[in-house]
Amino acid sequence: MKAIGIAGSFRENSNTEFYLKKALETLENRKIKTELISLRGKTIKPCTGCYDCVNLHRCTIEEDDFEGIFDKMKDADGIIIGSPVYFSSVVPQLMSLLDRAGFVALWSGKFFARKVGGPITVARRAGHNLAFSQLLLWFFINGMIVPGSTYWNVGVAGARGARNAKEDEEGINTVIQFAENMAWLMEKICRGSFDG
Ligand SMILES: Cc1cc2nc3c(=O)[nH]c(=O)nc-3n(C[C@H](O)[C@H](O)[C@H](O)COP(=O)(O)O)c2cc1C
Repeated sequence: MKAIGIAGSFRENSNTEFYLKKALETLENRKIKTELISLRGKTIKPCTGCYDCVNLHRCTIEEDDFEGIFDKMKDADGIIIGSPVYFSSVVPQLMSLLDRAGFVALWSGKFFARKVGGPITVARRAGHNLAFSQLLLWFFINGMIVPGSTYWNVGVAGARGARNAKEDEEGINTVIQFAENMAWLMEKICRGSFDG
């Protein structure tokens, strides 16, 4: 079993990456292979709405980093998506990836259906739940299964140079519990698939 975490932040020492690493470490402890994919240094052009994917079953936008990340998303059994909150929203570079991946998937074979995963959103003060809901809608329309936690997976970080996620004990514990539930669910589903 494999899970990936996609971090939408472009920042070095990103708070979003910090929480994602906590989740991925938790999955690793439960023998699930993980990979952190950061969008830092990568280019994902926005969806142009060309609808080529309806007939071609692939995205025809070229010369960016979409295809490699999309392949990893299709290959993974679990996907966690982490976004900083910018003006109460998911960051645009992440939405470019999700718009294109989601639209190709919807027209080409529901690639993400029954994968397990969920969002993590990180803000300094407010807007977490709006961005969290935005990502949940993406998970649900793609037929994915989202486990809960003891709270929503939101990190309260971003003060003092936006590097203080490690002080957010409740946020860290929420994310760890989410990952525990995700591992539990992935193990059940995997065992179920062997049972036929
Ligand atoms: C353009 C911009 C918009 C932001 N908007 C919000 C916001 O709406 N609410 C909030 O609480 N923090 C906001 N922040 C702060 C970031 O969400 C916060 O610093 C977060 O921890 C950054 O995550 P990162 O370190 O993973 O990039 C904003 C920061 C930037 C640069």
